[in-house]
Amino acid sequence: MSPFSKQFEQDGYLVLPNFLNTKTCDFLIKRAYQLIDAFDPAHKSIFNTNNQSHANDLYFLNSGNKIHFFFENSAFNQSDELTTQKHLSINKIGHALHEHDPVFAALNESQPLQQLMGKLGINNPKIMQSMYMCKQPHIGSEVTCHQDSTYLYVHEQPITGFWFALQDADEENGCLWAIPGGHRTPLKSRMIRDQHDQIHFTTYDDTPWDLNKMVPLVAPRGTLVVLHGLLPHMSYENRSDRSRHAYTLHVMSGNHTYATDNWNSVSLSSPIV
Ligand code: FE2
Repeated sequence: MSPFSKQFEQDGYLVLPNFLNTKTCDFLIKRAYQLIDAFDPAHKSIFNTNNQSHANDLYFLNSGNKIHFFFENSAFNQSDELTTQKHLSINKIGHALHEHDPVFAALNESQPLQQLMGKLGINNPKIMQSMYMCKQPHIGSEVTCHQDSTYLYVHEQPITGFWFALQDADEENGCLWAIPGGHRTPLKSRMIRDQHDQIHFTTYDDTPWDLNKMVPLVAPRGTLVVLHGLLPHMSYENRSDRSRHAYTLHVMSGNHTYATDNWNSVSLSSPIV
């Protein structure tokens, strides 16, 4: 067993500084701004993990194999107008940048990433989802505590998240927090898309997470944080002057079975490597 996989097995996460160089971080940030600039915000879809209001929004449901843009909850005034510039109002871009944007897709085949997936036992890797998250200054919203397997369920082995800090992520601007070893907790719930394209949650255990056990995963820019699909993790709101841009890939082994009732199963998505 590699030191990487031993640590991952123990904690349920890895924090790997300097995985991306500064130039790559800048390149991805610049590309995200180009995409936002070209986006016509006629459709105001808001991403909110507190009330899951986005979940039955067709713009969200159809984004599994597209590049769609989701606003911060606080980006609008009572007249439903943006209160600040578009590029400072976006919560996230998702969920198939890895498939449809050549700049982001180039990261799929990065040798160090492929090697790391191999060390973690992800054979024949398939990317099931990608997201670019802006965590905007002042209005960046909280992502409540969750397990990624709630949203992206794989039958044989939980999905693995690869979270790239493109800017410094610390306690002031809403870094990740996680419960070390919490991936040994059973899955608490699943988000399911039924045959009528309705989203609902099935709860197996409604005991709240003990947030006192959370530790901050401080990640200077270029750091890669790897997250086990059952690891409870979250990020607080960003009230600082600094954004916290990050890019994530959610990956499974192509030898395993992706649940057909996951939210994005309908539209998925070709193998990438
Ligand atoms: Fe997550």
